Amino acid sequence: MTDIVVLGSTNMDLVAYVEKAPQRGETVTGREFRTVPGGKGANQAIAAARAGATVSMIGAVGNDAFGSRLRATLEHSGVNTDHLRTTEGPSGTAHIVVDAEGGNSIVVVPGANATVDRVLPRDEGCIASADSLLLQLETPLSAVLAGARTARAHGVRTILTPAPAQPLPPELLAATDLLVPNEHEAAALTGLTDPREAAAALLERVPEVVVTLGAAGSLYAARGAEPLTVPAPRVTAVDSTGAGDTFVGALAVALGEARPVREALSWAATAAALSVQRAGASASMPYRPEIEAGYAS
Ligand code: RIB
Ligand code: NA
Repeated sequence: MTDIVVLGSTNMDLVAYVEKAPQRGETVTGREFRTVPGGKGANQAIAAARAGATVSMIGAVGNDAFGSRLRATLEHSGVNTDHLRTTEGPSGTAHIVVDAEGGNSIVVVPGANATVDRVLPRDEGCIASADSLLLQLETPLSAVLAGARTARAHGVRTILTPAPAQPLPPELLAATDLLVPNEHEAAALTGLTDPREAAAALLERVPEVVVTLGAAGSLYAARGAEPLTVPAPRVTAVDSTGAGDTFVGALAVALGEARPVREALSWAATAAALSVQRAGASASMPYRPEIEAGYAS
C-alpha cells in the first residue's frame, strides 16, 4: 500500500445551500444547512485513505466539539491521527455558500490551524518514512516549507496544492516535486490565464505540474515532455466543495502505485466526479471500489 502523509488543515465546514449566493448587503434564504468535516488537509487525507493508501495526518484541531468530530471523522476513514494535535481554542471553520449549480464561495477562519507553524521533531520520522507528502496552504507557510524540506531531505515525493492562492516563496517551489493548482491558482502564480502557458511557466520552477480544469479534466506538464490533457467524466454537480482535494488525494495514491500518468489522472478525475455528485467535502468522497467501478465503465 502507498504510504501518504498529509500536513495541513482541518476545518469544520458550515455549509448553507442556496439558489444563488448573496451579493454584498443582500440577504437570501437558504434551502438547507449542514456541518461537514473538511479543510484541505483533512480532505486530501480522507480522499487518499478511501482510495486505498495508508495515511497519517499532521495538523491540529481545537479543544471544542468540532475538534473531536474532525478527529473522529479522520479515524473513521482510516486516517492515523497520532500526529494531529489538540490545541487550546477553536477548531478551524469554513463558512461556505453552495449555489444551485454546485459552485461555492468560502471564508476560512484558521483557528487551530494557525498553530501548525513548524514540523515538530516527533513528526519528522513520519514524513521521512512516507512515499509522498501532501501539502496545501491553509496552515502557515513556515510549516509547509519545513514539511517540504523534510520530505526532500529524505527523498519523499512532495505534492503541493497551492490553495488558497497566494504568492509562494521560491524555496517552497524548489522543494516541490509536483504542483497541482487549479486554473485560477495557476493564473495567480504566473499572471497567465491560459492553463497551457501557465503550466509551461511553472515548469521553470517545479519538475511536474497538473493544472486541474474542473469539469474539463486536467492538464499534465513535465519538463521535456509533451503536455497531456485528460478529460473528466461528465456528471451533474450538486456540491463541488473538496473536489480538488479528492482529485489530489486519489492522484497521490495512483502515482504511489506507479500507474502511468494518464491512467492516474483519469482515475483521480473519476474520484472527483463521484464527489461532486454528493453534498459535503469529506462526506462525498468515494471509497476505492467505487472509483474502480466508475473508472472501468
Ligand atoms: O478545498 C475545500 C475545503 O476548503 C473545504 O472543505 C473548506 O474547509 C475549505 O478549507
Ligand atoms: Na461533494
